[in-house]
Amino acid sequence: MRRKIVAGNWKMNKSVIDAQQLMYQLLEYKKNNPTQCEVWIAPPSLYLMMAKDLFEKNEIGAFAQDMSEHESGAYTGEISAEMLESIEADGSLIGHSERRQYHGETDSHCNRKIKLALDKGLTPIYCNGETLEQRKSGQHFEVVKNQTEVALFTLTAEEIKKVVIAYEPVWAIGTGETATPEQAQEIHAHIRNILAEKYGKEVADEVSILYGGSVKPDNAKEIFSQPDIDGGLIGGAALKLEDFSKIIEAFN
Ligand code: PGA
Repeated sequence: MRRKIVAGNWKMNKSVIDAQQLMYQLLEYKKNNPTQCEVWIAPPSLYLMMAKDLFEKNEIGAFAQDMSEHESGAYTGEISAEMLESIEADGSLIGHSERRQYHGETDSHCNRKIKLALDKGLTPIYCNGETLEQRKSGQHFEVVKNQTEVALFTLTAEEIKKVVIAYEPVWAIGTGETATPEQAQEIHAHIRNILAEKYGKEVADEVSILYGGSVKPDNAKEIFSQPDIDGGLIGGAALKLEDFSKIIEAFN
């Protein structure tokens, strides 16, 4: 059975007090409401240790939003896989489109980061997806294929099963414009086929593929009901318990 996951990407939002408050609220919510999916958050890294202290029974997964492609050393401002492991973080987002857009990240970087994360027992959430121009010119299948191959194909079958993929069409992130459930399903099935061709169907069937891009309480259920969509990576709607909990409940 593939893991069902709702993950919140907090991006660069919230003061420490506000972050702590939402973590408490989420924990209370999780204790009082049995959920049909795993609940993960990716707060700013500065708050990860607080999250780990608070979620002492690992009720909620705590992920970084990015990590270094280097093991250690003179890389000012970076956070390593080893550091994340040492605070018992659960993993890291890798290759989010905002990292690609503003920090020049490529799939080769992602490939190195994913390998380092796996070596430290962390779960990489590998993000990919096409831009609006690529979608308009009909290149989306090819773009996503190429991204997936470059970022993931050096992994073994055992390793690939530990990766979570988040398909996030760039044109749907933070824009309020969501891919239709059919558009998302089509690419999710495409990604699973690419994995199946390389690793076999059984392995591909075990990889969780999340959808991200303007998932909201009112569209989550329809998106998550698609056969190849195993949950969501949620940005804006993860910043308030009221919205995030409704998205979690889309799995009920
Ligand atoms: P959004 O962000 O839900 O605000 O579109 C998703 C993401 O960037 O992961």
